[in-house]
Amino acid sequence: MQRNHGSTGIRHRLPDRLFHWFMAAAVVTLGASAFLPILGLRFDWVPLHWIAGVALTLAIAFHVWRVLAVHGIREMVPDSDDLREVAHGLRNSGHEGLRPAKYDALQKAYHAIAALTVLVLTATGLLMLAKIDTTFWRRDPSILSDQSWGVVYVLHGAASMLLLFLFIVHVYFALIPEHREYLRSMISGAGPENARGTRR
Ligand code: HEM
Ligand code: HEM
Repeated sequence: MQRNHGSTGIRHRLPDRLFHWFMAAAVVTLGASAFLPILGLRFDWVPLHWIAGVALTLAIAFHVWRVLAVHGIREMVPDSDDLREVAHGLRNSGHEGLRPAKYDALQKAYHAIAALTVLVLTATGLLMLAKIDTTFWRRDPSILSDQSWGVVYVLHGAASMLLLFLFIVHVYFALIPEHREYLRSMISGAGPENARGTRR
């Protein structure tokens, strides 16, 4: 990794960029179809919501396959240098002495919490498919007890509120001028190879 310190190359490859933007479009569609009816805009939101949810699940399966077959998990797993980075940040002492890394501590933390939240949403959402009639299957709520359904609904609702918050924070940081090169890299692919170790 030292070799790449500060250099510019391909930060995100095409399949990963397609995953990011497809996943983001699915999340926006899911959020809009869930929250707009609550805000008073009435439409037949269920088909749009469940189809986008199934598409999101397939996209995540693709991502996990890419990670396992191509990337490996190393770049996204928090390590001791991430703890040091946070401590340096609190002391305002920069990135001196830290191993350069593709993702910094906060990006890894964001990925962990966003991925977990989305996985809770998709797992509970897939169970909730048993509550609707589609061309492919008939409604059958008897797969779970009323009490278990309660847990599923609370998890789905709570995770959706957390994801709304995470989404707003993520888009804010993606759009500020200081991060323009990262935004460009998620569009064209080209950008800094390391987020930690390129500045200060
Ligand atoms: C257990 C499940 C998951 C694992 C093990 C995992 C692992 C990873 C790893 C290792 C990377 C870095 C790849 C690299 O650049 O070297 C990554 C990137 C990324 N992950 Fe995940 N991930 C998981 C679930 C998710 C979920 C559910 C989402 C959707 C919210 C997600 C969204 C992303 C995005 C947008 C990127 C950056 C795109 C890129 O690869 O350049 N991940 N993930
Ligand atoms: C629609 C608005 C969105 C914009 C403008 C946006 C922008 C970006 C950008 C520019 C990056 C690259 C950062 C880098 O190169 O290090 C990125 C990465 C990533 N995005 Fe998004 N994104 C959006 C939506 C989403 C959504 C809805 C999710 C999941 C819920 C998500 C999850 C991720 C993850 C996990 C990464 C990798 C970790 C990171 O770099 O922070 N993004 N996004």
